[in-house]
Amino acid sequence: MTILDSVTTATDAAITVDEHYVAHNYSPLPVVAASAEGAWITDVEGRRYLDCLAAYSAVNFGHRNPEITAAAHAQLDTVTLVSRAFHSDRLGPFSEALAELCGKDMVLPMNSGAEAVESGIKVARKWGTDVKGVPAGAGNIVVAHNNFHGRTTTIISFSDDETARRGFGPYTPGFRAVPFGDADAMAAAVDDDTVAVLIEPIQGEAGIIVPPDDYLPRVRALCTERNVLMIADEIQSGLARTGRTFACDHWGVVPDIYLLGKALGGGVVPVSAVVANREILGVLHPGEHGSTFGGNPLAAAIGITVVGMLQRGEFQSRSTELGERLHARLRALTGHGVVAVRGMGLWAGVDIDPSLATGKQITLKLAERGVLVKDTHGSTLRFAPPLVITAEEIDWAIDQFADVLADASSHSNGSSI
Ligand SMILES: Cc1ncc(COP(=O)(O)O)c(C=O)c1O
Repeated sequence: MTILDSVTTATDAAITVDEHYVAHNYSPLPVVAASAEGAWITDVEGRRYLDCLAAYSAVNFGHRNPEITAAAHAQLDTVTLVSRAFHSDRLGPFSEALAELCGKDMVLPMNSGAEAVESGIKVARKWGTDVKGVPAGAGNIVVAHNNFHGRTTTIISFSDDETARRGFGPYTPGFRAVPFGDADAMAAAVDDDTVAVLIEPIQGEAGIIVPPDDYLPRVRALCTERNVLMIADEIQSGLARTGRTFACDHWGVVPDIYLLGKALGGGVVPVSAVVANREILGVLHPGEHGSTFGGNPLAAAIGITVVGMLQRGEFQSRSTELGERLHARLRALTGHGVVAVRGMGLWAGVDIDPSLATGKQITLKLAERGVLVKDTHGSTLRFAPPLVITAEEIDWAIDQFADVLADASSHSNGSSI
């Protein structure tokens, strides 16, 4: 008797093995990817799905983007990993290109998004003691409520998400949280020992929350006035997702530190980075921080290609133009099962009427119709398709969404969908 004895389909078989052997730290939709190209995923039964999540914005350039996979293949045939014990001929050019894209001097290469956030926190604390003159161990960092910056012990220490926190203490001290979008509360929280403000310019996991227009400019001015580093976590919002290279660009704001990840790896390998000027990143000396894989030649070769694609601007333009269509189509569903639509570019948070169905129920119905989206916080859905999606594909996805909502409302008087 094996765990697969009573299983009949390839989908059930794959899910059964996953559930038996993979830690249950996610609750995935019952779709088993076997291959993917552009904006489409094909499952193990041969069914095709339009991917409207793009691996939480890590696949901004589409699945297996030919330019990115060509760079990866070429690098696989030369050198892939030397660690930072030696130099490689890829890391310098990658860092130069990325620093230039950000208008900064230097790059600290890492792997996952959470590592970039951790690294940014360490850099800010070290800058606080070495440059600002805050007594060692006294520096504080101001963050926003409902933030999402990853899942490490330090990062969950300043999260409001009890599911992410419960049972994982003791927590890292040195953080204070204020409401997102409230520049006055931010100003009140900053004191002489504040070394940094750490925010997502648009809060992603919280439901694509766009702040008031004066928020980021006021945070920028506050940081300059109080000699505090402004750290923008653009791991989900950056790299063309909102129609600009960085979400901060919409408000003409330049942070002191960019935290980047997800799409920087082109959907192929984890690549993240802390990008800042020399007087900030220069606080790190040998032995003070590191990563065996951070900045490896394969990651750097892919990163060079990604930065080159962003420099051309076509993905930013696609996101702006197609984003208008996505938002217009979604807004037209207001009152037909949709309560609110937020976001910028090809990034939309959609609140559905909670009396119709849960977000998870809607995502399951959409998956049955071949559209993949993910719920966040109960009744909010996130649409973040690869930026290679076409106008016709957007229309088709929203047609499916409209039909699912219509079905849900016809069932809402009693039975669940
Ligand atoms: C804004 C933001 N920061 C950090 C992270 C963490 O990235 P990773 O999952 O690669 O650690 C995420 C992931 O969703 C994110 O959205």
